[in-house]
Amino acid sequence: MYNSKITGLGFFVPDNVVTNEDLSKLMDTDDEWIQERTGIQERRHVIKGDDTTATMGVKAARIAIERAGIDKDEIDFIVFATLSPDYYFPGPGVLVQRDLGIKTVGAIDVRNQCSGFVYGISLADQFIKSGMYKNVLVIGSEVHSTGLDMTTRGRGVSVIFGDGAGAVVLSREEDNSKGILSTHLHSEGEHAEELSLIAPGMGKRWVLDIIKENDPEDSSYYPYMNGQFVFKHAVVRFSEVIMEGLKKNSLEPSDIDLLIPHQANLRIAQFIQRKFRLKDNQVYNNIMKYGNTTAASIPIALTEAWEKGMVKKGDLVVLAAFGSGFTWGSCIIRWA
Ligand code: UT7
Repeated sequence: MYNSKITGLGFFVPDNVVTNEDLSKLMDTDDEWIQERTGIQERRHVIKGDDTTATMGVKAARIAIERAGIDKDEIDFIVFATLSPDYYFPGPGVLVQRDLGIKTVGAIDVRNQCSGFVYGISLADQFIKSGMYKNVLVIGSEVHSTGLDMTTRGRGVSVIFGDGAGAVVLSREEDNSKGILSTHLHSEGEHAEELSLIAPGMGKRWVLDIIKENDPEDSSYYPYMNGQFVFKHAVVRFSEVIMEGLKKNSLEPSDIDLLIPHQANLRIAQFIQRKFRLKDNQVYNNIMKYGNTTAASIPIALTEAWEKGMVKKGDLVVLAAFGSGFTWGSCIIRWA
């Protein structure tokens, strides 16, 4: 059995900065409410036509592959996590394979929303552990902005989400004490609809039903979030799954050099920080600048922290996520 380690990482966000002030011109909201409840000051929105979930993923991936010091044709498999694919089908994994001009390797799409990247890392890790693949490209990318209800009706959700992409290359590590030490995945479908986008879906309402009904009051094709309910579950599950990972490796919260929580809400990250008695330099947050970018938030934050020199060889880095599904997970890394 091998381990896997992150050998290259990159991110891409659109240039277009949207401030809280900008949003307050579209809906009844204000900077104070948004910052107080979420910590967000601004986010990025694609200019429609410029970028998609797949093209941003490709841009992040190019950087990750270059930093990994490998040729694109050494990538053995592609994992793409998103809730906002370019097409209903096929998923963006194959678009990345095409746009990067990689030979005909396998490509899989992960539909696990905010925890999609952690699920993707876990998948890639298993392929590498088993010896099946040597280098796996894992991407998290989202375009939220074009699908949000940018009116007062949608303000509870629309102010939170932003666009962006992050990617890593996971490669074989022969030393089992280094790299990804363990991953921990969970789901609780009982709460599937508490954070969801119901239509269009083959189950209840397809596009043709929406067009036929042509109901201006219809909000079923916008994301819905029962915010307080999600918040309460998030703080519990984040804590549980971080502890689960630490225990599995006989580690304590004080052993963490850097925690990268999914950037759901700064208040959630601060709660976890207090609970585990971590110092400011042990938790990395950038939701202030980018909002919640769902599957992209962890690889964007990890890359940014790495670029700032906050992730060094030997460090214990913990990734943790919670979101729609509900699904949640953690990843314990001894940086190699
Ligand atoms: O990434 C996936 C996981 N997601 C999360 O973990 C998110 C978890 N939830 C949250 O972060 C918070 O619940 C929110 C930030 C989404 C909302 O904060 P909240 O403190 O739970 O607010 P609320 O939904 O209870 O709304 C409070 C009030 C309401 O008005 P009334 O009913 O008290 O009159 C809302 O209508 O704030 C109103 N409101 C807003 N006001 C100004 C909701 N959104 C806005 C807004 N601007 N953007």
